[in-house]
Amino acid sequence: MELLLRYLHFISVFTLAGTLFAEFFLLDKSLTKKQIKLLSRIDAVYGISALSLLIVGLSLWLGGYGKPTEFYSQNPTFHLKLTLFILIGLISIYPTIFFIRQAKGKQSQKVLIPQGIIWSIRMELILLSIIPVLAGLMAKGIRIF
Ligand code: HEM
Repeated sequence: MELLLRYLHFISVFTLAGTLFAEFFLLDKSLTKKQIKLLSRIDAVYGISALSLLIVGLSLWLGGYGKPTEFYSQNPTFHLKLTLFILIGLISIYPTIFFIRQAKGKQSQKVLIPQGIIWSIRMELILLSIIPVLAGLMAKGIRIF
């Protein structure tokens, strides 16, 4: 079970990072609604991977499959990792709503993409790049505070 959860954890992380990079590279100053529809589909996969990551992560933490729950609960590094994950989730709400709203209508119509959307994706990528370092530290029981 632990191996399966670890596998699912990694697959979810790969999918999350892959879809986020896809959004980053596809975004432009202006896009057609057809292109935004594609972004919206990619974003849906991103959402599913984030949900899967949360469920699998919670199982690894609270399930007691590998290390005991307290091993993680008592480590501030783990809580920082969790906080960054929640922060990424909160930031992602803005692009998600924008893509869903703007995908509707005449598909050839051009839409100006607000700088805030591009910056949200950039911020998510920056925060995401920090998490694996915290994960490695927490797996070894290292406290950064
Ligand atoms: C973008 C989000 C996440 C990323 C990039 C990520 C990354 C990782 C990585 C790289 C590992 C392996 C650490 C190692 O063995 O050196 C790991 C393990 C783990 N993660 Fe995550 N994780 C994420 C989200 C979560 C969430 C939301 C939770 C909990 C709710 C969680 C709980 C765990 C647990 C309990 C382990 C096992 C650590 C161990 O081996 O002792 N992760 N994560």
